[in-house]
Amino acid sequence: MGEVDQAFIQAAQHRPKLDTIEIEGIPLIDLSLSDKLLVSEIGNACKNWGFFQVINHGVPLELFTKINIAAKTFFDRPIEEKTKVKRDEVNSTGYHESEHTKNVRDWKEVFDFVLKDPSFLPASHEPEDKELKTLRNRWPENPPEFREVCQEYAREAEKLCYKLLELIALSLGLPSNRFHGYFDDHTALMRLNHYPPCPCPELALGVGRHKDAGALTIVAQDDVGGLQVKRKSDGVWVPVKPTPNALVINVGDTIQVWSNEAYESVEHRVVVNSERERFSFPVFFFPSHYVMVKPLEELVNEQNPAKYKEYNFGKFFAARTRGDYKKLEVENIQI
Ligand code: SIN
Ligand code: FE2
Repeated sequence: MGEVDQAFIQAAQHRPKLDTIEIEGIPLIDLSLSDKLLVSEIGNACKNWGFFQVINHGVPLELFTKINIAAKTFFDRPIEEKTKVKRDEVNSTGYHESEHTKNVRDWKEVFDFVLKDPSFLPASHEPEDKELKTLRNRWPENPPEFREVCQEYAREAEKLCYKLLELIALSLGLPSNRFHGYFDDHTALMRLNHYPPCPCPELALGVGRHKDAGALTIVAQDDVGGLQVKRKSDGVWVPVKPTPNALVINVGDTIQVWSNEAYESVEHRVVVNSERERFSFPVFFFPSHYVMVKPLEELVNEQNPAKYKEYNFGKFFAARTRGDYKKLEVENIQI
């Protein structure tokens, strides 16, 4: 082909520099350390980077292999088969081959599903937003084990998420269970990303620059690499080096607000390459859609007044998904 469709082309200032240089990477944290050490390491990583990798995280390593095989098998199926579980007006999860970030098409195809189907929520918690009502899972027939493997992996990631939320709460001087109540009816979403080789990796991106809206994101990635994080200190795009058996963790907008900006949601993107396809598996943890998000009272005082107004997570999420920037300005969240 040698060329890519105009829809994928990034504006000149957002194109990646592909000459890889060795620069300081995001912190790597061993979760088998004592809680005391962990709390301090995680606090520093959240403050300085908004991103870190973890090893000895408790997610069984054989699941990494299983999810990679399931994803490869699914994405290798003919397009007619994948589009049977395609996202549409009725379902906003499933297969999708034309994701856009900031109006530029991403060089990837995805499949996503919610960990808990919000259509099972009690009537009192019925989502008001049309978008949330459409979060219903659909599963492909092939490979036959696809659904089970995805759900098994997602359950393990969910356990890890609660552990990390506890450590983050402790690192902010809060009780370990401070965040738990916000996730009673969470709408966490798992995504399987497939980035095919790209003939013009200097012009397109696998995922354009963005921040994550939720509380925490946990990403498993294969050994190809491509994820880059915008370093807070100088704005340099730093590659996240694939580390065997590690998971990448990042703080989203919700923790930025809860922590009153002690921890910030950091911009990141994915570069592609012309030789190897890449797979990655983020799980995005969102609070329950009815939660009102605001800086936590314990972290706000006269010297450090609240930097955000209270907002309803579900409405914020729906507006953000629609790219309704005007509304977001009112909410005072920058994306
Ligand atoms: C993302 O930020 O959504 C993509 C993560 C990745 O592919 O590494
Ligand atoms: Fe992201």
